[in-house]
Amino acid sequence: MPTDAQRKPPGRDADFVEQLAAANLHPLWDRFRTLTPVRPQAKDPPLVWRWADIEPFAGRAVAQVPIDDVERRALILVNPAFGGETVTTNHLIGAFTILDPGDRARPHRHTFAAIRFATNAEGAATIVNGRRCEMREGDLILTPPMCWHGHINDSDRRVTWFDAANIPLIRALDANFFEPGDPSANEFWQVEDGEEKLWREAGMIGMDAPRLPAHSPKYHYSGAAMRRLLAALPPGRDGARTARYVNPVTGDAVMPALDCYAMRLTKGQPMRPRRTTCNMICLVTRGKGRSSVGEHSFDWSQHDVFSIPHWNFASHQAHEADADLFIVSDRVAYERLDLLREEFQ
Ligand SMILES: [Fe+2]
Repeated sequence: MPTDAQRKPPGRDADFVEQLAAANLHPLWDRFRTLTPVRPQAKDPPLVWRWADIEPFAGRAVAQVPIDDVERRALILVNPAFGGETVTTNHLIGAFTILDPGDRARPHRHTFAAIRFATNAEGAATIVNGRRCEMREGDLILTPPMCWHGHINDSDRRVTWFDAANIPLIRALDANFFEPGDPSANEFWQVEDGEEKLWREAGMIGMDAPRLPAHSPKYHYSGAAMRRLLAALPPGRDGARTARYVNPVTGDAVMPALDCYAMRLTKGQPMRPRRTTCNMICLVTRGKGRSSVGEHSFDWSQHDVFSIPHWNFASHQAHEADADLFIVSDRVAYERLDLLREEFQ
């Protein structure tokens, strides 16, 4: 009679697997399902960060952290599902930056892509590659890869804005480079809007506009202009009115691996749930409502932030009045890798 060990199918012997491991080899057959899951499975559940909970910490950060002592005074939104890693949802971080009157967040540049969305930043400006970009309500400012940038609060009041970046993606690729600027270089701050003027008029560009940069040549997207577009847009297939911020030369996403959208939800209008392989962070820019993401449902109001981890059906509904969301995503990275899939429920 064969022993139990002899009855095992070849290759399932624990000693054999150990011997393979000792030789720096893994058997595909005992981990095939782990290595090739039948569908994506986000490790993070959706999470909501409420502005009412963040705001007191913003005040404490200003009191305790002098801007001259740090690279940036930002509070990063973290999902504990990532085990202590500084991640909001896959590939992305969201944050809020706080500057007191006169604060300057020193110049630097890096290969990760970042954006600022002005929630309460009137009187502040971001300088990007020698262009001064004012931060009026709802304005989006790009800080594309390897563009020099710094922030200044020229107003007499505290300002805050929402930041997002693809730091976790670039860290996973181990492709970040970082260069500090000179914090004492006054000429960095003494600039006007410069070539940003070339990109202010929608639908019109100079005949010889360069096509070289991998990112949008326009860094400043007006909140007022986006609100006008959202008011004119018809509802999309999911029932929401959604606009994409694009590179005005190519019509593609604003940056190679970071993508931005604005969405208007009509009061009381249900939205058809959809899911996609990419990840999203949503900032509530106006109004109140409720979202369902996967098995979770939650309410939100102005300046709350929530995540939509990949391959979860998501839908949103505005209460009391229309509501607006600003959405930052890694969608363009999935498009470029031909890994973007979307479906409706
Ligand atoms: Fe930066």
